[in-house]
Amino acid sequence: MLLQRIDHVGYAVEDLEAAIAHHERRYGATVAHRERLEADGVAEALIAVGESYLQLLEPTRDDSPVARWLERNGGPGVHHIGYGVADLAATLEDLRAQGARLVDEHPRPGSRGCTVAFLHPKGELGVLVELVEEPALTRAASDTAG
Ligand code: CO
Repeated sequence: MLLQRIDHVGYAVEDLEAAIAHHERRYGATVAHRERLEADGVAEALIAVGESYLQLLEPTRDDSPVARWLERNGGPGVHHIGYGVADLAATLEDLRAQGARLVDEHPRPGSRGCTVAFLHPKGELGVLVELVEEPALTRAASDTAG
């Protein structure tokens, strides 16, 4: 099995602060990590849910893919699922050999120092899939820290 775990569920939102406040109020959530990803045109907030995260994504510019998705969707919603894999480069080779529709041909930087690659929803039952490989050092450090 290439997919090891659900790393995160990505929500596209129009207002990150309001989305965080909603989760704080509704579920008693706290934000574990925040980051601005200029390449993707998003600001994110990660809320830990067990071993996984809820990833709230607000577009930082009108031409970002998440901005266009919000427009098409008519508002916020589930944007993608992030699955953890052990070796992203090898996984992409395997998927390429199967003829999978890759959005990213090669692993690229994601948040938290991870490397990521997206698969096109047309080849994945309508779901935008993100593959995530955590850096070995981060994983070892967080294991030690508990
Ligand atoms: Co993601």
